[in-house]
Amino acid sequence: REVDCRNLMVLPGLIDPHVHLRDPGDPTVENFSDGTRGAILGGITTLFDMPNTAEPVINLPTLTKKIASMRGQIWCDVGLYIGATKRNALELETLETHDAVCAIKLFLGSSRGDMLVDDDESVERIMRHGSRRICFHSEDHDRLQKRRAMYEEGDPHHMHAEWHDVECAFLGTRRLTALAAATGRPIHILHVSTAEELEYLKAYRHLVTTEILVNHLTHVGPDIYDRLGGLAVMNPPIRDSFHHEAIWKAVREGRVDCIGSDHAPHPLEAKLRPWPATAAGLTGVQTLVPVMLDHVSSGRLSLEQMVQLMAAGPARVYGLRNKGHILPGYDADFTIVDMGAQRTITTDWIVSPCGWTPFDGHDCNGWPVMTVVRGNIVMRDDEVLGSAGGQCASFSKAAS
Ligand code: DOR
Ligand code: ZN
Ligand code: ZN
Repeated sequence: REVDCRNLMVLPGLIDPHVHLRDPGDPTVENFSDGTRGAILGGITTLFDMPNTAEPVINLPTLTKKIASMRGQIWCDVGLYIGATKRNALELETLETHDAVCAIKLFLGSSRGDMLVDDDESVERIMRHGSRRICFHSEDHDRLQKRRAMYEEGDPHHMHAEWHDVECAFLGTRRLTALAAATGRPIHILHVSTAEELEYLKAYRHLVTTEILVNHLTHVGPDIYDRLGGLAVMNPPIRDSFHHEAIWKAVREGRVDCIGSDHAPHPLEAKLRPWPATAAGLTGVQTLVPVMLDHVSSGRLSLEQMVQLMAAGPARVYGLRNKGHILPGYDADFTIVDMGAQRTITTDWIVSPCGWTPFDGHDCNGWPVMTVVRGNIVMRDDEVLGSAGGQCASFSKAAS
């Protein structure tokens, strides 16, 4: 079938390396089918799914079960994180070599149940087993608890003051970097959000790679909390303009490796609960590419830089394999975009059954008009085509 790409730009398939599809869990909030349809409508060809599901993915049985339940449900390719716990260091060493595993994910803070690893001894043990790059949510657990307690004691600024707490993320990032330096294990720090972390990490580029979220590049506190209330609550929090400008500077100077959405759906009522009971996390897999294209149109970064951060960068950091090559696009994954399109993101465009987006009403110059996964056109002009033919993504077993 003929494809007319006149006036369009053909990009390598764009990757969202940070997505919580919540499956298994509550399908009325998010699930594989809806989450990946949202992804392809938004121009994503591959996403990496987080392990903090209702049943955490922390061993071979839970990983195998997740892979089986994805079959016939996914519209794009999906790589899977495997979750670190205080007890599974040995198992992780084997599991990180599984073909479908994009990386180990470790929550230093901000997680429920089994998936919290908050002490240096456990983190170091995990770092000393295996060799692939480990991904971290770096916020320090004790400090995060303190932040909550502070507000529970009646801080008048409520959630608005969250962005003041820079130390929570910076402390965790320093702890992890010290452990990485001591063990020689390469690490990837997810959603870096502060000027302090980025300045500090300049000296560790050989060992520590970084992700920045579209939310931190687009939203600015405290205004966003006034405008969106609980819909803006996430960990790490949206920061003020000082940090916002610092992360943009790092992006432009090439000190950032990946951009992700941290798509983390919650039921609307959980987002609207009064602080500090507000559920933390924003939806974003469907809006990531449109919002980034708009940043390109407004001159905040070049299209080349965006492709580096959303295709080449994630492929390199995670060791994504395309027909044996650590480069995106070799297996005919493409995102075709119309930089002349003027569109507005609205909630009714969003597929996720949770039914909300922090980008409702956001105007975009530039829009994804076609998504091609392994040679198949799966989205064209806002329409999903074909069937749920996504596959498990495949990763190099060597350290990246
Ligand atoms: O805001 C967040 N939401 N931060 C996390 O680290 C977890 C995520 C979630 O799963 O809801
Ligand atoms: Zn996180
Ligand atoms: Zn996350």
